[in-house]
Amino acid sequence: MKVKTIFYCTDCGNELLKWQGQCPACRAWNTIVEQPKEGRSKKNEAISFGTRPKSVAKRLSEIADSEELRFQTGMCELDRVLGGGAVQGSLVLIGGAPGIGKSTLMLQICDNLCQFATVLYVSGEESVRQIKLRAGRLNIHCDDLYLLSENSLEEIIGTVHEVKPTILIIDSMQTILTSKSDSMPGSIAQVKQCTMALMELAKGEGITVFVIGHINKEGSIAGPKVLEHMVDCVLSFEGEQHMAYRILRAAKNRFGATNEIGVFEMMDEGLAEVPNPSEMLLSGRPSATPGTCVTCVMEGIRPVLAEVQALIAPSGFASPRRTSNGIDYNRAMLLMAVLEKRGGLNLGGHDAYINVIGGLNLGEPAADLATVLALSSSLCNKPVPDDLAAIGEVGLTGELRTVNALSQRLSEVQRLGFTKCMIPARNSGTILDIPGLQLISVRNVREALATFL
Ligand code: TYD
Ligand code: MG
Repeated sequence: MKVKTIFYCTDCGNELLKWQGQCPACRAWNTIVEQPKEGRSKKNEAISFGTRPKSVAKRLSEIADSEELRFQTGMCELDRVLGGGAVQGSLVLIGGAPGIGKSTLMLQICDNLCQFATVLYVSGEESVRQIKLRAGRLNIHCDDLYLLSENSLEEIIGTVHEVKPTILIIDSMQTILTSKSDSMPGSIAQVKQCTMALMELAKGEGITVFVIGHINKEGSIAGPKVLEHMVDCVLSFEGEQHMAYRILRAAKNRFGATNEIGVFEMMDEGLAEVPNPSEMLLSGRPSATPGTCVTCVMEGIRPVLAEVQALIAPSGFASPRRTSNGIDYNRAMLLMAVLEKRGGLNLGGHDAYINVIGGLNLGEPAADLATVLALSSSLCNKPVPDDLAAIGEVGLTGELRTVNALSQRLSEVQRLGFTKCMIPARNSGTILDIPGLQLISVRNVREALATFL
């Protein structure tokens, strides 16, 4: 029997022959949708296949040396995440939840891009009038920006050949559709075909293409994950719904590191860059209050200070409630077990809530020590000194392990006005003195707790 339809996971693009409740590849629930199978060998394709110019393999030495050409987008935080500016002829995908500020970011960079390039901004979601209104609100007056409100890929490519832009912005990939595929807009087949065509534009004509992609939890539309392998660069724009701060991360970058972050704040007149995230994350920190401790994590090559908060309260339930926000739940449970066994604290019978301020996610073990201090400070109701920061990984025997880039972290700690920093004893011999910063080296959790409890 010939298969007429095929099933896809809208999250990861995994193909299946039958419907399932859970995707076996990415384990997401309710993301499998049915799609008509695309005919593979059409007659005209077979003809064009024979007449295509043959590509010739070249030796590495025969290829001319040329640096990738980069240009600045005018937003330092975006340039940083892109690896020092956008690369000419690359395809950059910007993913994020609806309403996070993707269109705003793209429109804002147009202001600078228009000064040296021809920019075409295509929106499948808003009319040109709406975009003009938004541009007014953002204080953008680049008269040379070309706007187009269009859904059809063929029309867009037609306009590209007419306007000949050097930079093309597509808002958003889920609203663009091609007549070559008869599936719904936003479906995997459509999104893949359109991205493929845009990739050809980027590589063939050297146009830099920025594509916006929505991520939605229900998975009713194909997310940027499906396209990750096709494009050069995947940036994800994240943020808490009720907070003004937005973090831009590179999930994939063919032209730079992926561990860089850019921080923005959503204001009334658009996104503002936050060149100093540590200051932002520490603003409004309570003083002389139990249950909070500051640590320093590396986001890319940038040290960032973060405040870990913990609340320990007697539990009214047989099995206490434990939640963790910003620190991996299992890591938090491990640290609590270490505190109990090696630190001699009795956490059983207590609810524990852990939170990292600012919606930051601390994936680094260097935040362990601060988490442990915040937890014990809340339990014993004794504040960690305000001018003390803590950096170090905690092992299962309660020992403190070394962390990398300690000198950089300590400079940042000192720059933000801290006078003391707790570090693993093993690290203390290897770092230079930082004026104005007293280092407290500790060997294990017990020693760490003894300094302030
Ligand atoms: P938008 O860029 O339209 O989001 P996306 O394209 O990712 O869906 O941003 C929409 C949100 O940003 C909206 O909730 C309003 C807010 N916003 C501001 O707070 N200030 C502004 O200047 C603009 C343009 C938007
Ligand atoms: Mg938008």
